[in-house]
Amino acid sequence: MEYDLVVRGGRVVTGAEIMDCDVGIQGGRVAALGANLPGARTLDAGGLLVLPGGVDTHCHIEQTDGGVTNEETFVTASESAFAGGTTSVICFSGQERGRPIRETLEPYRQAASKAMLDYSFHQTITDPTDAVVRDELPAIVESGIRSFKVFLTYDRVHIDDRQYLRVLAAARRLGALVTVHCENYEAIRWRTEALLADGRTGAKYHGWSRPTIVEREATHRAIALAELVDQPIQIFHVSCDEVAEEIARAQARGLKVWGETCTQYFVLTADDMDRPGMEGGKYICSPPPRGAGENEKLWARVRRDTLDIVSSDHSGHSVFGTRGKSRHGADANFRDIANGVPGLAARLPLVFSEGVSKGRIDLNRFVRLVASNPARLMGLYPRKGTIAVGSDADLALWDPDRKVTLTQALMQHAIDYTPYEGMEVTGWPVATLSRGEVVMRDGKVQAEPGRGRFLPRAPYDLIRPTGVLPDGFDAAAVLA
Ligand code: URP
Ligand code: ZN
Ligand code: ZN
Repeated sequence: MEYDLVVRGGRVVTGAEIMDCDVGIQGGRVAALGANLPGARTLDAGGLLVLPGGVDTHCHIEQTDGGVTNEETFVTASESAFAGGTTSVICFSGQERGRPIRETLEPYRQAASKAMLDYSFHQTITDPTDAVVRDELPAIVESGIRSFKVFLTYDRVHIDDRQYLRVLAAARRLGALVTVHCENYEAIRWRTEALLADGRTGAKYHGWSRPTIVEREATHRAIALAELVDQPIQIFHVSCDEVAEEIARAQARGLKVWGETCTQYFVLTADDMDRPGMEGGKYICSPPPRGAGENEKLWARVRRDTLDIVSSDHSGHSVFGTRGKSRHGADANFRDIANGVPGLAARLPLVFSEGVSKGRIDLNRFVRLVASNPARLMGLYPRKGTIAVGSDADLALWDPDRKVTLTQALMQHAIDYTPYEGMEVTGWPVATLSRGEVVMRDGKVQAEPGRGRFLPRAPYDLIRPTGVLPDGFDAAAVLA
């Protein structure tokens, strides 16, 4: 048979294998892996790696927080993702306290329907009332949104321990994963007040307001309470070794606790925030980039599988403009500067360059970190995150030797800067395919808005509770 398209002569890399073979694509799916496959069209991949398209399970796209909507739309985020070899994302439907989730979820679904890439949602829970837990969450999970995000910090969204327990119990009942932003709210508030009262207002004091200990404490607590309920969790955006150590201890005890880290923690440091005015503000994110040397410790944790996913935590705030980081003024104090850095397009090139090209990880681990593991943990595997017969034909054709200097223009996002400006990478995507369609070639993105598909996530084994309760008493079952 003749395939719709054959990607010819590349080196196919999955999370476990490396094969020199053609990829035959039919109806948007991988239909064959083999030699000399016949195709109506061919795409030459000689000298290139053929990787699964990146799966970025932590992206803030067109999200509204406190009345301000990210500048990155589903269309611009799709362009940026394709430019960097990523083909699927999971972003956030945000709950606003005091409002039913459906009032924000439905408009968010509408916005996402313009996407060019495939997508799913995490549902943030900031207000787990009876109505939300009993009436709304079952339908939301049933619709395929099989993960929640909760925040243990930030003024408008943090939940307390009792509320967190309630979310854990609901997730266990419904078969959903809970992802957790781990920083201690009160400790940060207390230190922030002290810093501002002491006249320490510059961007670098963002880091001082939330040292590693507040992230470690919240991580320890998030894990302990999840253990109490027997609910699997993922710790988001791990910035440092001492937090990874908490996760490693939980994993050694047999708990279902996974750790995600993000591109920025490998290449940015606290010194980046120590620049005048909004130049420092560009690098503000939470948890903040840490000291020099922390990146090597994170790579060691990656090699030991404590941290098994690298996401971008792509955040859609420019520096300038009414929605930008400087919306409270060019000299705003650190508390008033929006958190988060953009990184959707830069994720694969930076992780490849820092990881594979510099000899810290091998090719298969790279694929696991940026595609297979996120797809597995979020219930998208093997449709996404691998190259196998039956999988969606989402591919990144990768030149492992291409040297590129990262620039704002290459990111193809709606944001007005990249925190990675001027960084040199070795390894670059020369083409991206989404369900068999060439959506990026030599940096030129071409795809129809609305072609992206929502990825509903059915129940899956990985996030099934362990069945072990610390003392046998199941409080979560009584207090449903
Ligand atoms: O600073 C960050 N990470 N901003 C995005 C929101 C979040 O906490 O993930
Ligand atoms: Zn977070
Ligand atoms: Zn985030």
